[in-house]
Amino acid sequence: MRNRRLKTIVSKMMSGNVGMHVPDSLVDPDGFKGLSPEGRSPEERADATVRGMSLEEKLAALGGYHSLGFRAIPSAGLPAVWFSDATSGVRSYGKATSFPAGIAMAASWDPGLVAEVAAAIAEEGRHKGVSVLLGPGCNLARVPTCGRDFEYFGEDPFLAARTVVGYVRGLQSKGVIATVKHFCCNNSEVDRHRMNAIVDERTLRELYLPAFEAAVKEGGAGAVMSAYNPVNGVWASENGRLLSGILKGEWGFAGLVMSDWISVYSAKEAFKAGLDLEMPKGAWFSPARLRALLDSGEITEAELDGKLRRILGVFFRAGVYDRPVRDGASPFRDAGHEEVALRLAEGAIALCKNEGGALPLGAGVARIVVTGPLAVGTPRGGGGSCSVNSEGRDSDIFGALHELAPAGCEVVHVPCARGFPKAARGLLASADAVVFCAGYTEVEQSESWDRSWELPEGQAALIRSAAALNPRVVVVAHAGGDFETESWIDAVPAFIHGMYLGQSVGHAVARVILGLANPSGKLPFSMARAYGDYAAVAGYPRTPDATSFKKVAGPKRDRTRAGMVDVRYGEKLLVGYRNFDARGLEPRFPFGHGLSYTRFALSGAGLSAARMVRGGSIEVRAALRNVGDVAGAEVVQLYIADAECSVMRPPKELKGFAKVRLAPGEEAAISFTIDERALSFWDEASGAWKAEGGKFRALLGTSSRAIAAELEFDLEG
Ligand code: BGC
Repeated sequence: MRNRRLKTIVSKMMSGNVGMHVPDSLVDPDGFKGLSPEGRSPEERADATVRGMSLEEKLAALGGYHSLGFRAIPSAGLPAVWFSDATSGVRSYGKATSFPAGIAMAASWDPGLVAEVAAAIAEEGRHKGVSVLLGPGCNLARVPTCGRDFEYFGEDPFLAARTVVGYVRGLQSKGVIATVKHFCCNNSEVDRHRMNAIVDERTLRELYLPAFEAAVKEGGAGAVMSAYNPVNGVWASENGRLLSGILKGEWGFAGLVMSDWISVYSAKEAFKAGLDLEMPKGAWFSPARLRALLDSGEITEAELDGKLRRILGVFFRAGVYDRPVRDGASPFRDAGHEEVALRLAEGAIALCKNEGGALPLGAGVARIVVTGPLAVGTPRGGGGSCSVNSEGRDSDIFGALHELAPAGCEVVHVPCARGFPKAARGLLASADAVVFCAGYTEVEQSESWDRSWELPEGQAALIRSAAALNPRVVVVAHAGGDFETESWIDAVPAFIHGMYLGQSVGHAVARVILGLANPSGKLPFSMARAYGDYAAVAGYPRTPDATSFKKVAGPKRDRTRAGMVDVRYGEKLLVGYRNFDARGLEPRFPFGHGLSYTRFALSGAGLSAARMVRGGSIEVRAALRNVGDVAGAEVVQLYIADAECSVMRPPKELKGFAKVRLAPGEEAAISFTIDERALSFWDEASGAWKAEGGKFRALLGTSSRAIAAELEFDLEG
């Protein structure tokens, strides 16, 4: 019933902004008119272009073109510039490679690999004529059930920041502009147009802004997309404090700010606040409305020119106008892209539980039963604007296990609905192992609504039934974050969190299950024993049924406080492992957790000095050795604990990590540099980052709860 209702909503959404498609005829391959750089800087070229534009051209330019573009500038001979969603590949321009979702990128703990994937996405964009990617999204996983958490980079601001920087650099290295989104506090899909995030300054700075700050300052992202929701009572698209104060002011962002699709509620306020481009079209930034504001003197032509200089400056810097719109020579859906997609998918798989060496399924396994609702047609990602059409590529989990299982090992698919019929029970009982494919389809985990905490469609009961029949049940689950495991986890020996792995999902999961690949992903979120353990969910709507289509479809045109629904971020800093640590709660699987088929030993932990001077840094060093029998990768994690502070601090915070690949017996030296910012909190009194002198501890480990070494040092007072 719920599914049917959601599917109706999905089809409605598809006819709206989420399923946009750019007609081929619009992406003119010869659009490039050969504007010569003539030795001028991108800024000078942008300036000259703006000076040559008529007022009509300028007024029309601030509203999107054909839902996914920036219009051509005939006076300068410049073609339209095309945009595309999103983080896991190119959408809206036909089929493309579907890469792992954002949550899998974070689960790889491998920003270098994420950069390789983003570069491949950019190549596919170039091939299709796309110069601006509407991603990556880097909102924090505040609640585990947020529909879009699968697109984002998990619950920790440091991990999200490192991942987004890798992504932005990789993408922009190929001349495609990144749009980091949704700025900011779009941490839920329930009522996303009206959800007014009430969040204090310190929490904003320490949790919800660092990924954006890093994307802009370190990654050099060319574009930022404002969120649908209001923040502290002001819509994100007209939030001057966020757009002009923090983003363009403090962080010195020189790029363009575009709105999310249908999220502008005023012309003057949004214009003045720092919004540069309204998408998908100029409803408020329409020529008529803007001209009226000009005529009344409420805005000036100089301000209009400033916005155009920003937009064009980004395009010139990226070389958008110096190349053909479509680049047929740019690699597209080729072997290289398939290889990097598979490599990231394998590197993202988090083996959470493996009792008694239940995995891998190697020698001696003669029959594997594959069951569960996601065994066939395993989802490649969650739903909404991030989903990529990769039809015709790769197989699902059952297909890939069937293909890759060694000769002599039979792989049988057993469908299940409400239970296992008698014949199926016999098959399950006599199999050497059962792989149960669980999780959320792309309707169940999607943009536009939040999902259930419990696995849908009675999956928990089905897992328990399978476990009653066979002692070697391996659960593989696809979700954008944490979900209910407590009712079945003790009944099974093995559990893999499969995130969303793109088109390579079948092969990546099968290779890990069969021991052809060694898992090395780590959870970028905590997994709780109970939903209520998350401090952030107090008073939060629990299931997608709480969402009505009216709320999903868009706001009433009411930009007053009456049109908002307050969501208080009352848990403040207690999000993710910070919450579990501070409240002494035992997670089921901690943030940063993930097992391997080999074993690692961390040793020789030490510091470069026992005291850090102001403005200086300190090095934390250790050695990691693969003491097992197979090659593998481990993620060494560095957390910092502030032992003496006048304000409350989370017990520890991630400040460094390194993914290290080692052959059996091999050892590597690891080092992290800690500076003052890594020791700081946001001091509301001074409105700045502040590190108080005194004792700190550096904790080195392989998850947030597997700490192998603790080192103490002082920061000069
Ligand atoms: C989403 C954005 C997306 C845009 C264009 C919106 O509904 O929130 O993330 O980029 O649509 O498809």
